[in-house]
Amino acid sequence: MQLFTTLLLLVLVFIIAEARRGKRLGQENSRGRRKLNSIIHLANGCKEYIENGDKFLDCQDCNLTAVQFGWPEDIDHLLLAQNRLKVLKDNTFSHFRHLLSLDLQLNEISAIEEGAFSGLSKLTTLLLQHNRLQVVSEAMFIPLPRLRYLRLHDNPWTCNCQLDSLVRFLQVPSNRYLGNFAKCAEPTRFWGQQLKTLDPKLLCLPMQPLVQIPRPHSDTTLFCHTHDSPKPLLDCRSKGLKAVPRNIPENTAKIDLAFNNITQLRSKEFTTIKDLKLLNLSSNSLEHIDTAAFSGLLHLRELDLSNNSLHYFNYGVLEDLYYLRTLSLSGNPWICDYNIHYLIYWLKHHPAVEHTGLVCSEPEEFRGWPVESYVKTYNAECPKDKQVDLHRGTGPTATTSQELIAEMEEDTGLLPSPLRKKEPKKFEIFRLR
Ligand SMILES: *[C@@H]1O[C@H](CO)[C@@H](O)[C@H](O)[C@H]1NC(C)=O
Ligand SMILES: *[C@@H]1O[C@H](CO)[C@@H](O)[C@H](O)[C@H]1NC(C)=O
Ligand SMILES: *[C@@H]1O[C@H](CO)[C@@H](O)[C@H](O)[C@H]1NC(C)=O
Ligand SMILES: *[C@@H]1O[C@H](CO)[C@@H](O)[C@H](O)[C@H]1NC(C)=O
Repeated sequence: MQLFTTLLLLVLVFIIAEARRGKRLGQENSRGRRKLNSIIHLANGCKEYIENGDKFLDCQDCNLTAVQFGWPEDIDHLLLAQNRLKVLKDNTFSHFRHLLSLDLQLNEISAIEEGAFSGLSKLTTLLLQHNRLQVVSEAMFIPLPRLRYLRLHDNPWTCNCQLDSLVRFLQVPSNRYLGNFAKCAEPTRFWGQQLKTLDPKLLCLPMQPLVQIPRPHSDTTLFCHTHDSPKPLLDCRSKGLKAVPRNIPENTAKIDLAFNNITQLRSKEFTTIKDLKLLNLSSNSLEHIDTAAFSGLLHLRELDLSNNSLHYFNYGVLEDLYYLRTLSLSGNPWICDYNIHYLIYWLKHHPAVEHTGLVCSEPEEFRGWPVESYVKTYNAECPKDKQVDLHRGTGPTATTSQELIAEMEEDTGLLPSPLRKKEPKKFEIFRLR
């Protein structure tokens, strides 16, 4: 019996010693050479493997545009670098509950919803460098209490009021390893400044005393001057501008952009400047005005487009300008063909608008004619159409450009002849002289 007990003890001691040895060997292995277990290749180019006891899912450089269903969920590290992810939606990663690190660098991410990382309560490392992020909210980090390493550099951060919460979050002393080297790309006055050191108070100033205009291919930074009294006025005259400057203070009442080289007005160029009363674009090189260029300018009273290169207005361009009173159009090469009819139609619906300088420059036969006379002659060819009531819907009714086009199509008198329905004439009158 005693012999048996001794034997049993010896066996136990041996087992324990072996187990310790094994553990030591394992540790040596993990410190030195990497211990790779078998690699499982998944569909769409992903690989799953275990390294030093941690489970990896490696989907780098796989052209992925989304995180897919059916991936193993018990992984510790998810490698998604060099893919084509664009937007991270709420709960994208919530089933990876063990995740310690998430590598999303070198994607095309431009938006992250606030709940994108929810469920990642163990995550310590998040790599978001080399993406297209301009603005994110600090709220997206709330589900990540263990986050210690965060990379945000090489993103075009827009340092405005929306970035305020992120900037403040990064500057909390205990977050010193989060977001180092991330810099502002816009606006120009903060260009190159680190989010870590930027004064967050400056981000939400209601009115910026100076507006800087980014000027491509030039180191000189230009300034528009603002005058505060009596109404905020932005003076950008003769600055060699090729486009309408961005970041115009939202409370601006008057903008003088005369004598620049602006060639086109893009969609929603002025939408944020809701109180704008006067817009002077005189003496530029305007050729094209987007249909939505003046959208939101409900209070604009004076619009000066004189001395440009305009041929006609797109259908719908003027639809938001309910309170316009003065429209200066001289010095433009207006072409008197069917495209010009929209402008005349709009002016007829808005008799309070005083306009100047609407003279045909082409075609040859109408050169020098007031555009209205051309349209009248045009309509006179078809007297029946003159009975169409052109004074419907005046005032600030919300006519969309679609409705307007439909309405214009009813007013066949305003359409060019090829589009008119040719009805067989019942009789013809010949006047003899
Ligand atoms: C990713 O897509 C591009 C073009 O769409 C292709 O040239 C490239 O080979 C693809 N890469 C992989 C890993 O599938
Ligand atoms: C506009 O551009 C032309 C050439 O592109 C230049 O000669 C002219 O001086 C510019 N005008 C202004 C006001 O900058
Ligand atoms: C716009 O600027 C031009 C050039 O300075 C000026 O002649 C014109 O009166 C201005 N228009 C308005 C509406 O103030
Ligand atoms: C139109 O432009 C020309 C030359 O650029 C200038 O001499 C003239 O004064 C401008 N006219 C108006 C009304 O601004």
